[in-house]
Amino acid sequence: MRSLAVFALSLLPVLPAQAQDPAATKVDFQKQVAPILLGRCIDCHGPKEQKGDLRLDAKVHLFPAGDEAEWSVVPGKPDDSDLLRRLGLAHDDDDIMPAKGEPLTKEQQELFRKWIAEGADWPAAADEWFAAEIAAAVLPKITFELPELDAAGKQALEAAVVALRAKGAVVQPVAADTEAIDVNLSLLRDQITDQEIALLQPLAARLVWLNVSRTAVTDASAKVLASLGQLRRLHAANTKLGDATFRSLDGLAHLEYVNAYGTGLGDGGLTALAALPKLARVYAWQSQVTAEGGKAARAKQPRLELDLGDYVEGRLAAAQKEIDDRAARNKPQNEMCPVAPEKKVDPAHTIEHDGQRLGFCCAKCKAAFQKDPAKFAANVPAKK
Ligand code: HEC
Repeated sequence: MRSLAVFALSLLPVLPAQAQDPAATKVDFQKQVAPILLGRCIDCHGPKEQKGDLRLDAKVHLFPAGDEAEWSVVPGKPDDSDLLRRLGLAHDDDDIMPAKGEPLTKEQQELFRKWIAEGADWPAAADEWFAAEIAAAVLPKITFELPELDAAGKQALEAAVVALRAKGAVVQPVAADTEAIDVNLSLLRDQITDQEIALLQPLAARLVWLNVSRTAVTDASAKVLASLGQLRRLHAANTKLGDATFRSLDGLAHLEYVNAYGTGLGDGGLTALAALPKLARVYAWQSQVTAEGGKAARAKQPRLELDLGDYVEGRLAAAQKEIDDRAARNKPQNEMCPVAPEKKVDPAHTIEHDGQRLGFCCAKCKAAFQKDPAKFAANVPAKK
């Protein structure tokens, strides 16, 4: 049934072309020519490399304004187009394009000839198409090597997925083309207890990302969590999970990321995690990890990115120091008012005078001083 559907689909684009005289239809650049450029030329003539100073992934590159004499495609003139000439060169000619792999077929070369003869149309949509295709090609493909599942295993897994979804859990493949599963329970908050966590067990062979943050999971689930041997990412922020659970995760050989923000993760659990071969990042702000524990883990596993939130304390300390410094700079150097020497200085009334801060008892005295500083010079303390 399935192969039949594919077969029928694959016929679709062919039918209309056969129905009409192929010579009568204009070449569709984006559908017919651009895919050849993308597949056979862009590696050397695209964003990464511009061999022979040529880019073929946007109109402006192939047809630069003012440089018409240099164009390797001359619209309407296939025989004057260097690009077309190169496609048709002998296999062993140094100038043949593509410079790598099989030459283009005669049909593909004819497409280029026809496209150029018809005016080498390059619609703006084709530029967008190239940009999207090139961007998609550089996206890293997520692949997971997962163990085989027998029929019983598959059945148990499917039943568990149904049960989890019935509870409102988000259960989905990590990406298209993979059986790897992502489960997010965090939106359900305390509706998720150890009882629901137990439903994850049959997913162990496929479960690679798990989010139990803010759920009511407890250390009673340690055994289930420790059995999720394919786990890559574990989000467990703001849960009651304690150090015992994290210590028990020492068999999760694929684990790369743990978010233990606001949990009971302690130095023992961190040591166990740091020993995992793939572990790259642990988020442990507001956990029980001590500064020494963090230091020891970082020393033991230098590639581990450990976020203890300690930079926050550093920032707060720096901000407090700046406030203190500013207060010290603004502190008046004199105790008694230079204008009314029997009165104490009020720090709210100060001025910068002769490189130091002078204080007055009130705004009136300050104004009097500013009007005629010489008059009160005798009451100004010597500069420090
Ligand atoms: C493996 C790399 C590679 C691939 C793939 C490739 N080229 Fe080239 N191309 C080159 C190199 C290197 C040059 C410069 C040397 C030369 O002029 O022969 C070049 C030069 C050119 C030039 C001449 C540019 C100029 O003005 O000097 C054209 C036109 C051209 N290529 C078209 C194409 C087309 C069309 C394709 C795809 C069908 C293609 N190339 C695929 C490597 C490649």
